[in-house]
Amino acid sequence: MKLLEQMVVNDGKVYSNNVLKVDSFINHQIDPKLMLEMAKTFYEQFKNDNITKILTIEASGIAPAILVANLFNVPMVFAKKSVPSTLTRDSFYEAQVYSYTKNVTNNIIVSKDFLNKEDKVLIIDDFLANGQAVLGLSDLIDKAGASLAGVGILIEKSFQDGRKILEEKNIRVCSLCRIASLEDGKVKFNKADDEL
Ligand code: G4P
Repeated sequence: MKLLEQMVVNDGKVYSNNVLKVDSFINHQIDPKLMLEMAKTFYEQFKNDNITKILTIEASGIAPAILVANLFNVPMVFAKKSVPSTLTRDSFYEAQVYSYTKNVTNNIIVSKDFLNKEDKVLIIDDFLANGQAVLGLSDLIDKAGASLAGVGILIEKSFQDGRKILEEKNIRVCSLCRIASLEDGKVKFNKADDEL
């Protein structure tokens, strides 16, 4: 998606060879017009897939996911990283997500009330790095007996393993911006999935 690539170039900051800072438009301050354009692009990609639910993980996935859900006219559910006091032990599905970027493991949960075997789920998230968040969400979907239609990603770091790991599991990935490299402070792109 050209608009997103332009914003990555103009407003993103290469923080290191592995990490891109996008907090002025994606994951701290949020650009609503950009988010809506991205949501429309995901809608075009998945509109024939009978999506019944959008699933993401707190916190940064929530903003794009809610806009996508609005276009599909289905609920958005986000996996929580802590168990709310209102949920009893047997009332939620649980999975583990290890973050290589942050070197922590989070237990993520979704209430059994909000995912079920009739659901056809589209996962939305801001970054795809090592694919662990998507695998954790996919585990929740499996535990609910639901099916996974695909994954919509705002920014994929193609030089990390996430994409490969998901494709090996036959998971369809649509990334609006695919970063080939962040070496020497410069962003290099691969062709995004919506442009193929
Ligand atoms: P993975 O799920 O693909 O394996 O990714 P990884 O564990 O490496 O990433 C974990 C967290 O780090 C995610 O946020 C993700 O959005 C963030 N992240 C990964 N790469 C980058 C990057 O290059 N730049 C920035 N700004 N963030 C990155 P999270 O733990 O879910 O936190 P939240 O922000 O959603 O609360």
